[in-house]
Amino acid sequence: MSLENVTREELQEILDLAGDSAGGRLEQPLEGKTICLAFFEPSTRTSASFELAARRAGADVVSLSREGSSIVKGESLVDTVVTLSNLGMDALVIRHKAAGAASLAARYTEAAVINAGDGCGQHPTQALLDLYALSEALGGFDELAGRKAAIVGDILHSRVARSVIPAFHTAGMEVALVAPDTLLPQESGAWNLSVMDSVDAALEWGAEILYLLRLQKERMTGARVPSVGEYARYYGVNRSHLRPGLLIMHPGPVNRGVEIVGDVVLDGSSLIPNQVAAGLAVRTAVLALAAGATQKVAA
Ligand code: NCD
Repeated sequence: MSLENVTREELQEILDLAGDSAGGRLEQPLEGKTICLAFFEPSTRTSASFELAARRAGADVVSLSREGSSIVKGESLVDTVVTLSNLGMDALVIRHKAAGAASLAARYTEAAVINAGDGCGQHPTQALLDLYALSEALGGFDELAGRKAAIVGDILHSRVARSVIPAFHTAGMEVALVAPDTLLPQESGAWNLSVMDSVDAALEWGAEILYLLRLQKERMTGARVPSVGEYARYYGVNRSHLRPGLLIMHPGPVNRGVEIVGDVVLDGSSLIPNQVAAGLAVRTAVLALAAGATQKVAA
């Protein structure tokens, strides 16, 4: 459910398998398997890449959304999971607005459960695809060690940050947080990371990677920043921040003009398109491992 206890070797194994998938060296690893995609919260790239990954790998795929399922009739998450389990699913990919939803689901099914984002909890496959995209850009997983990454923005509401930070650490990277106090979680004090108050300060620190997070207004209970314009002034990235060797990352969806100005999204320094593309390879690997289908990996 989280990447906290995943070792460097295990990360490497998943990324290698993703590389095999991208290189066409996995032959229909999910043939005969049934994958349920239960996206009870909005999603574009995560749901689309999981679905493509599962179908291309030969699985039977069942896709459920909140609105299209009996959840809206009042059926519980547990009853939904038990129902899908009785249909013989081998793996459940679940996104839910409640932190802990994937762990709860895992208690009620023998199928492998993959957390595709649980509220402000975790988003492990996002962190894996970020490591994959970075490894590709920097010339290999070993090249990540010692790199400085600044995580910028709404860390408080970000499940992405809670998965990316331990994943970057395990890869040997140095991580700093860049956010106003109002967008830092209380527990971040225990993370023992440097905290900076602007993108400029992160660049002075020597950040080689700026990992931007969306202002997640749908999860905010009150105003957390004085104004969006004020936020963008200190925490938004624009052309003047770009410099040779600096890489820009963002899990998407992007609020253009808030955390990043529009034309920087597709600049040569931006890994945002690479992150999306990496999702397919990484999720194929994760599904194959989860469904116990890796023995079909072609040499
Ligand atoms: C993120 C998510 O849903 O957690 N997006 C994603 O999966 N690519 C980040 C976000 O919503 O801001």
